[in-house]
Amino acid sequence: MSREIKRIAVFTSGGDAPGMNAAIRAVVRTAAYNDLHVYGISRGYEGMIDGELSRLDVRDVGNIIHRGGTMLKTARSQRFITAEGRKMAYESLLAYDIDACIAIGGNGTFTGADIFSKEYDIPFIGVPGTIDNDLYGTDFTVGFDTAVNTAIEAVDKIRDTADSHNRLFFVEVMGRNSGFIALSTAICTGAGSVLIPEIHTSIEELIDLLKKGVKRKKLFSVVIVAEGHPQGGAAQIAQKVKDAFDYYDTKVAIIGHLQRGGSPTGFDRLLASRLGFAAVEALLQGKSNVMVGLVHDSISYTPFAEAIKNDKPLNNDLVRMAEVLAI
Ligand code: F6P
Repeated sequence: MSREIKRIAVFTSGGDAPGMNAAIRAVVRTAAYNDLHVYGISRGYEGMIDGELSRLDVRDVGNIIHRGGTMLKTARSQRFITAEGRKMAYESLLAYDIDACIAIGGNGTFTGADIFSKEYDIPFIGVPGTIDNDLYGTDFTVGFDTAVNTAIEAVDKIRDTADSHNRLFFVEVMGRNSGFIALSTAICTGAGSVLIPEIHTSIEELIDLLKKGVKRKKLFSVVIVAEGHPQGGAAQIAQKVKDAFDYYDTKVAIIGHLQRGGSPTGFDRLLASRLGFAAVEALLQGKSNVMVGLVHDSISYTPFAEAIKNDKPLNNDLVRMAEVLAI
């Protein structure tokens, strides 16, 4: 029989993502609407271990829907990986009479939640918040759309200078083990090529492709590189390629953590609101140890163990289209 839920805790963990605040707001307000008490945990699992919980009321989450970052702060906790750390975290939750938790984060966050939920009887619901979009069980994660838009804005600017100087630019975007940000950015900026970990492209194939572009009178070229590419980051790949071109001057730009900040897009605010709302409703329906997600515009529930397997497929139609449109 599922337990009665009266007090819940919410936290953000792992890399921050634009829209996390909108998700916190949705959790707090949906909980309050249902007469639940909500506690915010600071700094993710670190704060859970150290007992950093404080009451969150509906007004505490006012004026945050448009803000990047996370009002609850975040961390990548090494201590939560240990059994001792998780025991301390459990004791903190007991001390505050917490009946259930809502975790907003990505792969590492749900890996921790999955282990914890097998050891202790406190239900967790996950809200996918990561710019990487690499969680199985949701078409989009909170923060992905904003990160892609930030990358697009940066690449648009790079195109201006690349065009003026006839340069070959390698632009590195984030996405630890996945090419979602890179692929979308490449399509939206009309990049000459995209290098992503999911698809093996050799240096020879890349040189060949870029040379075809020169023959077709491409005056400049931009290659988007996902940071997790097996051949290395943008700087290493540029190094391997540059001697093959005397026509182009080769340059590198790494967008980096710019992609993690900024005001969330409308898409991310809506997604975060829907998922935060759905997470509280899931707890009230007795669900536990699942990530809420959006699949074909409907709410779905995926066990943590499946969400984190790192096998969310890229859309192959997009990959093929990116190649065709870059001709
Ligand atoms: O998981 C989100 C992410 O931004 C990845 O794309 C990136 O590899 C990583 O976090 C960077 O982590 P940190 O902020 O700890 O440097």
